[in-house]
Amino acid sequence: MKKLVISTGAGMSAESGIATFRDSGGLWDKYPVMDVASADGFARNPALVHEFYNQRRRELVAAEPNAGHRAIVDLERLFNVYVITQNVDNLHERAGSGKVLHLHGELMKVRALDDESLVYTLPDALVGSPDPLATSVDTVIDGHKVRPHIVFFQEAVPNFEPATEIAAEADIFVVIGTSMNVYPAAALLRYVRPGVPVYYIDPNPATVPDYVTVIRAGASEGLARLAAILGADA
Ligand code: OAD
Repeated sequence: MKKLVISTGAGMSAESGIATFRDSGGLWDKYPVMDVASADGFARNPALVHEFYNQRRRELVAAEPNAGHRAIVDLERLFNVYVITQNVDNLHERAGSGKVLHLHGELMKVRALDDESLVYTLPDALVGSPDPLATSVDTVIDGHKVRPHIVFFQEAVPNFEPATEIAAEADIFVVIGTSMNVYPAAALLRYVRPGVPVYYIDPNPATVPDYVTVIRAGASEGLARLAAILGADA
């Protein structure tokens, strides 16, 4: 089977009702990004950052995977599919995707402040507490204070290197729903081998090199079109 690598951003989950970051009305219009999503912001006001991610968790548990997430799962019948996502939601997993690598962390996880290898999944880790989806500066799990398992701005992206290895092995590479503003994620395209077909699904696409086939559409409609194109290529 050919290796189909799909790199997704916030637009992938837009049809599930989860706000993107940079579209008008997006999250970074409402919250100063460096207050709620940076290492400095967390050091300055950790309570605000906890509350920001608590809200995102409440939104996520009320949301469902959309037809686009499911279309990616369907492609597993024809291809060896790898999803590399900038999204911190778990909608690819809940749709049933088998291989998902998160570049920017995972909303439903927290980790120990004093040992980053200790990662805990909510709500299991907080069962019995008044709100098992909510953490605060006082939350203690297994004797450890915790922080969101999110890659903040100003922090390294530990999964970028494995992502580049996956991208370099792609036979077909697809980008969906990202403004390609955030590095190193936006640089993944550079690791795709020359000659490999590259598609980009986005209703308002960023500027991309000429060799990229742009499908100007939302994720679910764009994936339906892509599946028709790729069916012939499987
Ligand atoms: P952005 O909010 O920057 O971009 C969202 C993209 O989704 C835009 O290109 C939109 O045109 C597109 N879009 C909107 N609706 C869509 C739909 N229905 N179907 C497909 N695409 C649609 O989000 P990202 O590029 O993912 O990081 O942002 C990257 C990172 O910036 C995020 O992972 C987050 C943020 O700061 C962290 O918080 C670490």
